[in-house]
Amino acid sequence: MILGVSGGIAAYKACELLRRLTESGHRVRVVPTEEALRFVGEPTWSALSGQPVATGVWDTVHEVPHVRLGQEADLVFVAPATANVLAKAAAGLADDLLTNTLLTARCPVVFAPAMHTEMWEHPATQANVATLRSRGAIVLDPATGRLTGVDTGRGRLPEPSELFEAARLILRRGTQTPDLAGRRVLVSAGGTREAIDPVRFLGNHSSGRQGYALARTAAARGADVTLVAANVSLPDPAGARVVRVGSAVEMAEAMEAERRDADVIVMSAAVADFRPATSIDSKIKKSGAAPAPIELVENPDILAGLVASRDAEGSVQTIVGFAAETDDVIANGRAKLERKGCELLVVNQVGGGRAFGTEDNQAVILGSDGTAVDVPMGPKEDLADRVWDLVGRRLR
Ligand code: CTP
Repeated sequence: MILGVSGGIAAYKACELLRRLTESGHRVRVVPTEEALRFVGEPTWSALSGQPVATGVWDTVHEVPHVRLGQEADLVFVAPATANVLAKAAAGLADDLLTNTLLTARCPVVFAPAMHTEMWEHPATQANVATLRSRGAIVLDPATGRLTGVDTGRGRLPEPSELFEAARLILRRGTQTPDLAGRRVLVSAGGTREAIDPVRFLGNHSSGRQGYALARTAAARGADVTLVAANVSLPDPAGARVVRVGSAVEMAEAMEAERRDADVIVMSAAVADFRPATSIDSKIKKSGAAPAPIELVENPDILAGLVASRDAEGSVQTIVGFAAETDDVIANGRAKLERKGCELLVVNQVGGGRAFGTEDNQAVILGSDGTAVDVPMGPKEDLADRVWDLVGRRLR
């Protein structure tokens, strides 16, 4: 594969990405721009990749590298991609080895932009991103957070570990086109916490891994991803916009705020059905007497609410629910699918250490059309990809 590096300060993070790629057995040719070498020098790239490094088209001309690198690559991953390199790629300019490689590549091409917020939001950059996406490239939206100076905002390069995950997921799809390109997906993940007092809560064991796998795989298939995460301590998936919430009520508000633009909504979060009727402002103390019972009230059913809003508006939107069941998995799943009114319900059997907090998952995906697809025990990304396959079929 080719790791293209353009001239931004985030080039230093590409070293870590390169290290992860080579350690996992990938043969990586690094193609930096001249400007990238002002941030990280050629010896670093050649030592970490174990491969020669060139920036221009005039080195080793007899090997015709400006054509061969792109033709032979199984993936071209540009991280960081500056506003300048996005503009050149969108315009089809070819004035160095990286831009030549982008024109000759017939494999998946991924850009991980990093720049200041103003540059990212500029209509010129947004138009270039739209052009590149329309031609089948995957452009991962930058993350939000600390930028080069003291400022913060959208424009950060996602963490190298997550860029590595994106590269891995895109590579495993081979030459398949990004079938969710142009689709907006909204995914909820994690488990809500319902405050009892300032230090205690009612919660559940959800780690958010399944929802994050859904977000990662959707981004790898070209989707525009928003992730509403309740109490998840995993790194933000590359390309996803993450909205953090705590309680079920906060999640309901966030989903309501985000739902309108979505083509697909997946409720994979474990939402508490009940919350304490009152949350006490100061810590509950032992008094010596028997503890007061905690009175509970019901939380909104977010999934059912999303379906009701969609139906009331007559909009076309595919809505997917999850169900955690301990007994009578299929029968309970069918009844729940009916009750919630969504198109697909991913039914997990939980309890006894299954699903929550583990790397693997097994499920049956029930369709409102009566279908049932068994997904055998495997990585949560496999289940996520099966969900997107079924969603993709409905979107088409
Ligand atoms: N869900 C939701 N809002 C709630 C409870 C659940 O949106 N207040 C969603 C979950 O995100 C999931 C689906 O509904 O997609 C099913 O969740 P589950 O807990 O299995 O279902 P419940 O409706 O809580 O049914 P029960 O607890 O009776 O099995």
